[in-house]
Amino acid sequence: AIVILDFGSQYTRLIARRFRELNVYSVILPGSSSLERVLQENPQGIVLSGGPSSVYDENAPRPDEGVLDLDVPILGVCYGMQYLAQQAGGDVKRAGKREYGKADLTEYGGQLFEGIEGEFVAWMSHSDSVTQLPQGYEVVAQTEDTPVTAIENKVTRRYGVQFHPEVVHTPKGGQLLTNFLTICGITRDWTAEHIVDELIAGVREQVGEEGRVLLGISGGVDSSTLALLLARAVGDRLTAVFVDHGLLRLNERAQVETALRGAGVNIVTVDAREEFMRHLEGVSDPEQKRKIIGREFIRVFDRAAEAQGPFDFLAQGTLYPDVIESAGGEGAANIKSHHNVGGLPEDLGFQLVEPFRTLFKDEVREIAALLGLPDDIRMRHPFPGPGLAIRCLGAVTEDKLDILRRVDDVFISGLREHGLYDDCSQALAVLTPIQSVGVMGDERTYSYTVALRAVTTGDFMTAEWARLPYDFLATMSNRIVNQVHEVNRVVYDITGKPPATIEWE
Ligand code: XMP
Repeated sequence: AIVILDFGSQYTRLIARRFRELNVYSVILPGSSSLERVLQENPQGIVLSGGPSSVYDENAPRPDEGVLDLDVPILGVCYGMQYLAQQAGGDVKRAGKREYGKADLTEYGGQLFEGIEGEFVAWMSHSDSVTQLPQGYEVVAQTEDTPVTAIENKVTRRYGVQFHPEVVHTPKGGQLLTNFLTICGITRDWTAEHIVDELIAGVREQVGEEGRVLLGISGGVDSSTLALLLARAVGDRLTAVFVDHGLLRLNERAQVETALRGAGVNIVTVDAREEFMRHLEGVSDPEQKRKIIGREFIRVFDRAAEAQGPFDFLAQGTLYPDVIESAGGEGAANIKSHHNVGGLPEDLGFQLVEPFRTLFKDEVREIAALLGLPDDIRMRHPFPGPGLAIRCLGAVTEDKLDILRRVDDVFISGLREHGLYDDCSQALAVLTPIQSVGVMGDERTYSYTVALRAVTTGDFMTAEWARLPYDFLATMSNRIVNQVHEVNRVVYDITGKPPATIEWE
């Protein structure tokens, strides 16, 4: 593996993803991880990430003693390079000016740049610079403002770059990272096939010959892919429980059932629509809705588990970003409770099976293709656990859900039909409680207003509203009002996140 020691850069995860894209397994550990912890990962190369600190800060984060002495290639990025240089006896100074943004390398060469030709645009974000080289090192790249932009020591196999090769703003950064992998002599075999084989072997080992596995299906890509993987690993010792809470989109249940059953997954659907509606009756507070749905979900799931059981294992589609131990904790303010429906408490008395704990979402999508998950599920936008309940503002009723479901279907099908679906990270329709006056034919109408929302985002923490073409929006507006008679007004949400959130509740 390539071990990335995280010193707090916002780009650290990107480094790991780049290596994974290059078919090499890589893990992120906190910068100060013990030597022992690092060795556990069997490192064939180490990356020291960037970070907000200066090597002169009193509390500057540093790797554990011995890590820098390991006989593997080490690449320092930004802060990582400064740290490497300083440790080797070089000098780092606060530069007169901060270099931020794109910079052209005026010269470059050496092992890291092997095979790279022409212009090299590098993304910079630093205020400290290496001013004096440590012994044994040479400068292998520079920019106008930064004479020491990349360094290498071929003998000890220590490398440093002041810029960020992992971001898209460094277009040839991928080649540089590939060169580092070559230097590490690492086999690039982290492919979808390989991942699937390993995961299946891992599940079989954990579950044994007899163990029975329970899985909750949400209709999303993670749990669906997990169902396919587990079915391959343990066959019908897997029971996949799909709770239909009545808050799903049009035809969603049938779609998921067909796809999974067709692939040999033993799927049990629990129709709990009435039960959920009963508990949601008259509830208009968004957080209250989430609480009720979460609680009922667990209750229904529990009951199904009892009826289908006994089970020894509970499978969950936990992903790597949920478990990365990295510098700088999360600690974000609780804007919405975001409990995932399907996120079950751990005291259900099962052992957890979490095969995707080491994977990024892109990797799950890749193995989903290999396992034969249909593309319309595989490439689906995220859908919140509480479903349409938080898109139906105020108290939820069957009638309102029915309207929303039809509007959502027109919008989402329209996006697909116009080839715009994949340009959006998430798209949704909201049924507002607003009723207003309109005219259709010669008749006055007094009907609902729906809002359409589409966003682009990388991490869903911030988002931009998608600049959908006016003509497309016009078509959607016409179709919705014509096909869904309870609606006479369509608006498009042009607010980013922040200040708005993606969902309206
Ligand atoms: P917001 O609205 O907070 O949404 O900008 C960010 C992302 O989270 C999803 N979301 C939820 N997912 N349970 C979920 O499983 C929830 O209660 C929930 N609320 C929001 C939302 O769809 C978006 O992708």
